[in-house]
Amino acid sequence: MTAAIVGVGSALPERVVPNSHFEAIGSSDEWIVKRTGIRQRHFLPEDGHLADLALAASRTALARSGRTAREVGHVVVATTTPDRTTPGLAVEVAARLGADRAAAFDLHAACAGFVYALDHAVALIESGRAGTVLVCGAEALTRITDHEDRSTAVLLGDGAGAVVVADVADADAADTVLGPSVEPAFRLGSDGELIPLLYADRYDRKLRMDGPEIFVQAVERMSEAARDVLARRELTADDVDLFVAHQANARIVRAVGKELGVAPERLYLNVDRVANTSSASIPLALHQAWREGRLGPTGLLGVAAFGAGVTWGAGVIGW
Ligand code: ACO
Repeated sequence: MTAAIVGVGSALPERVVPNSHFEAIGSSDEWIVKRTGIRQRHFLPEDGHLADLALAASRTALARSGRTAREVGHVVVATTTPDRTTPGLAVEVAARLGADRAAAFDLHAACAGFVYALDHAVALIESGRAGTVLVCGAEALTRITDHEDRSTAVLLGDGAGAVVVADVADADAADTVLGPSVEPAFRLGSDGELIPLLYADRYDRKLRMDGPEIFVQAVERMSEAARDVLARRELTADDVDLFVAHQANARIVRAVGKELGVAPERLYLNVDRVANTSSASIPLALHQAWREGRLGPTGLLGVAAFGAGVTWGAGVIGW
């Protein structure tokens, strides 16, 4: 078995919100660009359905994968902000996609959710329990944003991204995107002692964050996990064709790249266009990278993410 990414898709809400929107709460384009690299983000309307974005991203990923909806064994949606408390987004995505043989569930690991879900998809394939898994990351962070708090409001955006993960060991090169021979590897972690650094409580449901400390922890944990994964596969940063870290802040992504020795041209950044979309950020970035020709027909992808909990993870996987 060799699990690899064989399709990618994304979807963004129509409304684009420029940095000037935050002048009303005492921020400025200059501050936001300098400290975060963010220039704009997309907002889902208050009555918008996140499931629509998750479905659009998943449809694109599936169409690109050459697989049919009936071949999908599991649909996993990483999200912190589903439309309903229960059921989650995944069952609706599976049904509307026509994946009527699939198990479907949501996974909550904050901004690390997509990497957790990707690791899970690989494990399902390697154990023979599924041949094709759809992994989606979808967030409407505006639902848990304190829109009066400039220290968090400027950072967050809404969106969805999805990938299809499949066994490519004996696939026909003509109809799929073959990953390289490297077997996927992942390292996940969590530390609940650090909940006070970033959380949304059940009273006001809004995100509270110690920004500078989260910055330090994010760089440290993502770098550590990625270093461990590379060592386990006897790889160096130069073996990775594209490295996509959780798009929280351009300074964080660049600092992780520097720690690992990733050449700037292999480090992907789209936080300027979409801001921090939590578990949607990596698949959204992957789809944009693919559309820009930054993802070749095959290659080795490095991912790393960090979020509330704190939770973190890193991995290498072929596409
Ligand atoms: N506009 C203008 N000024 C601001 C803003 C703003 N939006 N936010 C904070 N400031 C001010 C502060 O009040 C402070 O002013 P002072 O010096 O007069 O006290 C000054 O800017 C510096 O504030 P710091 O917080 O020290 O600034 P820093 O350089 O650390 O940047 C930031 C803040 C961008 C939040 C950074 O710490 C960061 O990116 N942290 C990580 C955030 C993150 O990645 N979160 C991810 C998780 S989010 C999730 O999981 C959904």
